[in-house]
Amino acid sequence: MSVKMNHHTAGEIVPRHIAIILDGNGRWAKRRGLPRTAGHAVGSENFRKIALYCRDIGVDYLTVYAFSTENWKRPSDEVKAIMRLLGKYLHEAIDTMERDKMKMRVFGDVTGLPKELQDLVAQTNEISKRYEGFQANICLNYGGRAEIVQAAQRYARDLAEGKADPELTEELFSDYLYSSGIPDPDLLIRPGGEQRISNFLLWQCAYSEFYFTDVLWPDFSTDELDKAIAVFRQRDRRYGGVKA
Ligand code: FPP
Repeated sequence: MSVKMNHHTAGEIVPRHIAIILDGNGRWAKRRGLPRTAGHAVGSENFRKIALYCRDIGVDYLTVYAFSTENWKRPSDEVKAIMRLLGKYLHEAIDTMERDKMKMRVFGDVTGLPKELQDLVAQTNEISKRYEGFQANICLNYGGRAEIVQAAQRYARDLAEGKADPELTEELFSDYLYSSGIPDPDLLIRPGGEQRISNFLLWQCAYSEFYFTDVLWPDFSTDELDKAIAVFRQRDRRYGGVKA
């Protein structure tokens, strides 16, 4: 965790890595008599707003769960609409990420995404290589167990080819995850009222602080994020130890 001094946080601790499960878009739309896809559209705009806010207050990494390996089960019109929104978001990000000083990485099985999205992801990866700074990780076609299994498969392959150290440690294993090189989330936020992990960052959230709220994702404002961070600051993180 890093301590950042700026006008907003006045020397208070800012979580270095925040993870968010984007939930509640459908209900947000339904309550307004709108199609579910309208909720996803507002949800994706909200992601942009929250990401820039995280950057401004000194968070280093924001990881969001946008589309799980299970979300393909949704009606095909809804899946198509989400893919279209992701495409639109990535397209706009390509034009603005340099100005916004924002790096991006996608966690998940990119090969299962529509070709246009794969190309956009490749472009954002290319731009991200050019500088250091705030990084947004978008989980697409992502599942926590699948991530661990593919990491194990890749390690086994490297081992068989003599490219990996036979002494497998947690640290070495972490290098095979999508999150390689990124510190674990300090704070995991789930809006939308459910209190479960839903196969998100299973390995990485071993010691994360969890924050649940009934606020639906499209309504999750920067004030709501401030609230979550304030609660996080009250928590006593012992990592299995005892307090000094
Ligand atoms: C959860 O709400 C949301 C999703 C499964 C899709 C999230 C996708 C976006 C916000 C679009 C693009 C994202 C980015 C990062 C640009 P839900 O449909 O499960 O809501 P419900 O529980 O109320 O039905």
